[in-house]
Amino acid sequence: MKSTIALIKSASTLKPNVEVFGVSGSPRINGNSDILLKNIISGVAQEKIPCDYLNLTKVKFQGCVGCEKCRKDKICTGLVDGMSVIYKKIISSKGLVLVSPTHNYNITSWMKAFIDRLYCFYNFENDRPRSWSSQFSNQGRKAIIAAICEQESTEDMGFTLEAMKKPLKALGYEIIGELSVFKIFDKAKIKNDKNTIDRACQLGKELARAIK
Ligand SMILES: Cc1cc2nc3c(=O)[nH]c(=O)nc-3n(C[C@H](O)[C@H](O)[C@H](O)COP(=O)(O)O)c2cc1C
Repeated sequence: MKSTIALIKSASTLKPNVEVFGVSGSPRINGNSDILLKNIISGVAQEKIPCDYLNLTKVKFQGCVGCEKCRKDKICTGLVDGMSVIYKKIISSKGLVLVSPTHNYNITSWMKAFIDRLYCFYNFENDRPRSWSSQFSNQGRKAIIAAICEQESTEDMGFTLEAMKKPLKALGYEIIGELSVFKIFDKAKIKNDKNTIDRACQLGKELARAIK
């Protein structure tokens, strides 16, 4: 825990590395979101930028419990779980990719829990209502977000993209690319959609170039 605290304490002073970290929030391993993410990451790799990714359902972690210990520690010290490893990746990576399928007009519960756990990267003041800033601001951090759903309208995709975009912007990320994919239901069916796969790869290249 001590080493994690030390790492996080340096989050606002150290510049992130030119590398990209990707996160999928789908409970379907190797499903559509995972495939989208892998293709975005493949675009990053083609630009020779170090990159890594994971599916959140493979990590044991829970949502934020609101203990507020992070206000002082600048890291989540209230929970000790799989997020410790993810925090290191987030801090060190200038580029971030989030991909979620639509579940009930929104991101999945895994993606929501993950985003809530990024709360520890805010600085809160003691006034009311509390003014705040992000440890990640002005570090040139950039992100791509992608969402995929069964139905065919933005209405049916609901808040999925917005639910990733707003918190990332608040944390100090510039969203340099967005991808909305409609009319895909079956597992891995997105593989047949060459245009979308190409677009995903292209977005990865753009992210890599943007953080160089
Ligand atoms: C619990 C659940 C809720 C869903 N809700 C929606 C929805 O609100 N709108 C929609 O268009 N598709 C919805 N879908 C369909 C998925 O978004 C779609 O199958 C997607 O391709 C799954 O991607 P994945 O393979 O990455 O999990 C839902 C699927 C599940 C399992």
